[in-house]
Amino acid sequence: MAFLSDTLARVKPSPTVAMTGKVAELRAQGRDVIGLSAGEPDFDTPENIKAAAKAAIDAGRTKYTAVDGIAELKSAICAKFDRENGLSYTPSQVSVSSGGKQVLFNALMATLNAGDEVIIPTPYWVSYPDMVLIGGGTPVFVQGQADQGYKINAQALEAAITPQTKWFLFNSPSNPSGAAYSPSELKALTDVLMRHPDVWVMTDDMYEHLTFDGFEFTTPAQIEPGLYERTLTVNGVSKAYAMTGWRIGYAAGPEPLIAAMRKVQSQSTSNPCSISQWAAVEALSGPQDYIATSCAAFKRRRDLVVAQLNACPGITCPTPEGAFYVYPSIKECIGKTSAGGTTITDDAAFANALLEEGDVAVVFGAAFGLSPNFRISYATSDDALLEACARIKRFCEGLR
Ligand SMILES: Cc1ncc(COP(=O)(O)O)c(C=O)c1O
Repeated sequence: MAFLSDTLARVKPSPTVAMTGKVAELRAQGRDVIGLSAGEPDFDTPENIKAAAKAAIDAGRTKYTAVDGIAELKSAICAKFDRENGLSYTPSQVSVSSGGKQVLFNALMATLNAGDEVIIPTPYWVSYPDMVLIGGGTPVFVQGQADQGYKINAQALEAAITPQTKWFLFNSPSNPSGAAYSPSELKALTDVLMRHPDVWVMTDDMYEHLTFDGFEFTTPAQIEPGLYERTLTVNGVSKAYAMTGWRIGYAAGPEPLIAAMRKVQSQSTSNPCSISQWAAVEALSGPQDYIATSCAAFKRRRDLVVAQLNACPGITCPTPEGAFYVYPSIKECIGKTSAGGTTITDDAAFANALLEEGDVAVVFGAAFGLSPNFRISYATSDDALLEACARIKRFCEGLR
């Protein structure tokens, strides 16, 4: 009898976490590696949020809470959806978990049966396909096109829908490409979904607040109110308020789904950290000026990185609308040999050689389901980004 589960055999470990481990290993050997693989803001959590957490500790708010969130946080979330997305929810339609990741996981565990299909546009966030596999479902990929800014179109979505489709798992702005769907691009997709009443929509809006150049963010249930009854709108405080370590994510959707998600959470982790929940109340209800400040910094860094990468021979880097990632193509580098003698057979070989010879850590595109590319997280200092881009340029100039 096998000791480890058959399900786990189908799941791969996170490639982004693996790259972070490799960077730590090389640094321990004394190498000056610049890490551009971690997907988190480099800024500190705003002071007012930290103060709310300290006050929660002092007030003894350190006990178990309701499984899927305290009433104060659920009201703050309802107010947020109303204020920012024009979506009306009651607290019984809201679920709070230990990060957006757990929200997505709960929703998939609560709904998937063997054979259920989940449509995932590529390039995708690394965890989506594996979460679907853990839940016993089948990921079905729809290829984002490089010449359409790594977005999918209505025809491709329509073609992927079958009688087995349970969810369309949507993410805009996207990790890893930074691509964000304009209201009209999103409407084209929701029009398709309106023709398929059995398909539910799980929208991962984690990067909602990180958009640039006046981009207008919208979410499926807002663009198409006809989808409200079958949409789970997922969000969180990790990226918007530099709170990745606090582990608070949330979602709103139909009550029976929220109740099912609560059941999954009640038999696994129970409530998210009580102190973090009070911090999230302040994040969502307190002053919002941090968002504009961080967006301005990310926009400056995006422009810097896109310009520098496009000056590297063999690299083509589109300008994304949001998040803090770029997803350049290295099509022209494939088949060449690096100065250190590595043949660039694919994007994994490129990323490994860049790390070994150029001391820059990026994540290869195959991890996100679309090659040959790599992902850079530019949530780091301008100086580190400039030095990293100079190293990438030297590496590319050495390709023969
Ligand atoms: C697209 C996307 N969704 C969800 C998450 C998970 O966020 P959290 O840290 O709140 O679990 C991430 C984190 O990297 C992400 O990039």
